[in-house]
Amino acid sequence: MSATGNAPAARSDIGIEAAGLTVRYGSAAPALEDVSLRVEFGRVCGLIGVNGSGKSTLFKAIMGLVRPEAGSVRVAGEPVSRARRRNLLSYVPQHEAVDWNFPVSVREVVMMGRYGRQGVMRTPRREDREAVRDAIERVGLSALAGRQIGQLSGGQRRRAFVARGIAQGARVLLLDEPFAGVDAQSQALITALLRELAAEGAAVLVSTHDLTTLPSLADEAALLLRRLVAAGTPQAVLAPDVLSQAFGLVPASAPAPASIPVPAPASEGDR
Ligand SMILES: Nc1ncnc2c1ncn2[C@@H]1O[C@H](COP(=O)(O)OP(=O)(O)OP(=O)(O)O)[C@@H](O)[C@H]1O
Ligand SMILES: [Mg+2]
Repeated sequence: MSATGNAPAARSDIGIEAAGLTVRYGSAAPALEDVSLRVEFGRVCGLIGVNGSGKSTLFKAIMGLVRPEAGSVRVAGEPVSRARRRNLLSYVPQHEAVDWNFPVSVREVVMMGRYGRQGVMRTPRREDREAVRDAIERVGLSALAGRQIGQLSGGQRRRAFVARGIAQGARVLLLDEPFAGVDAQSQALITALLRELAAEGAAVLVSTHDLTTLPSLADEAALLLRRLVAAGTPQAVLAPDVLSQAFGLVPASAPAPASIPVPAPASEGDR
């Protein structure tokens, strides 16, 4: 089964296209300011940035879960609402955003990826059950398919959510920190899976704090600090001068280039 499997064909080469996105929560300074980002089908883009730099906000803006003050988003060349209706888009939120006590099994979580294809009665057909079984097998969770999602390890939970996206046949995958609290083996497994899905044609946007594995994970990288500070190959974005500016390690004597905003002092909310 492939990421492109039974999903409708996309109408653009660009999986994700955000243009000039500005998002503000209440009257505070914008959490995201004039951010433009493109991820083509077949590519993995790694999103990096310090805590509070706007990574999760960017995911939510792409999903249409927060309303941008300015800018626009297209997924597979379409408005997000339409891409979601067409099952093109899958989102694995950051760990803390999920209620793990919710009484559903791994199989049921993955079956949720099929809801969009089922009638209002949500009666799974044979093809739904097969897609779910295949997706669970692909992420290596067959032995745990009947287990309640809250009784999985962190790495296993992420894999369950990736399986949901696979069962859905999504062509655009958004993963917000899938490696947080995950051991090296699970991280390698998820990385290999994302690379495979991209090779099959998916566009993948994945945030991570793990800079050392970024080059093996991603074809390209984007560095966020409320604004997009840098974008390009992982090597270019990880260049010491770029990183030191964005992570607030600039020597006092060095002037910040105009394109790189000086980080605001960390506040309580920014951790
Ligand atoms: N619902 C909200 N209401 C008000 N402010 C918010 C809300 N969500 C996020 N923020 C603020 O927006 C900014 C960006 O937060 P965001 O969660 O996008 O950062 P992040 O890069 O995902 O951080 P982390 O690495 O900790 O996950 C932060 O200053 C945060 O406090
Ligand atoms: Mg976040």
